[in-house]
Amino acid sequence: MIKSYQKDWHGIEFSQFAKCDVNNIAGKDFYDKFYETFFEKFKSFNDLEKNWITYKNQIAKVILNEINNKKNILSIGCGIGIVEKYLIEHSSKINLTAVEPSPNVSRWVKNLERINIKDGYFPDVLDSKLNFDIAYANGVDYVFNNAEYQVFLKSIVDYGIKELLIISVSYYTPSFKLYFKAIVKNILIKMKLYRGRQFWGFNRSIKEQFGAIKMSGFKNISLVYKSDSTIVIKAKT
Ligand SMILES: C[S@@+](CC[C@H](N)C(=O)[O-])C[C@H]1O[C@@H](n2cnc3c(N)ncnc32)[C@H](O)[C@@H]1O
Repeated sequence: MIKSYQKDWHGIEFSQFAKCDVNNIAGKDFYDKFYETFFEKFKSFNDLEKNWITYKNQIAKVILNEINNKKNILSIGCGIGIVEKYLIEHSSKINLTAVEPSPNVSRWVKNLERINIKDGYFPDVLDSKLNFDIAYANGVDYVFNNAEYQVFLKSIVDYGIKELLIISVSYYTPSFKLYFKAIVKNILIKMKLYRGRQFWGFNRSIKEQFGAIKMSGFKNISLVYKSDSTIVIKAKT
């Protein structure tokens, strides 16, 4: 696992709304402030960069393929709900529950039929043990360190989810060059020479992902999609 740092997202420089912290990971306050700025800048999905939308739709297609004929779907950490919008618009069968900790971030999709938005953390925000045929977490894994990732994955198993998709947009392929870069970054951080960046999260290799998912209680784990930027792992209990 290696740490990642970021200066901007969706063309919004973090320094616009926060003091970047290279030592402490972006938490809920950071995301809340980010989304505040985001909704000042963008008023609808049409305002977002076209390449980003194309990419998200591509991932939505992969998810839809894995959903197959399943009906009750849970999305954990849905953000602005762009993938959820695609899923609803391209399958008349599914009912989607989408959970997101930052409040009202899903405002552009919350009035769509067959989407039930819950502002809060999984599983606490869900009323009772609902029955989901499949759950997915898209671009969320990077926020957790190893201990937190275990708690997160185990909470999914304990909730009774039998099938899970982890869509990771932060995977890396281990190499000497990457480890060397990480060591140099660490030294620069200690010397206070790596400034203006936010500690964004953790990148995991495919092997590390499989190990973490297996340890949490999932048994049947497979890689169902891989591109330069993204992997999709399917896991069944
Ligand atoms: C990179 S965004 C991805 C959003 C969305 N899934 C997508 O693909 O566009 C990461 C999201 O994870 C959410 N998040 C942060 N901590 C979380 C947690 N503990 N559980 C669930 N979601 C979390 C953030 O609020 C943010 O919306």
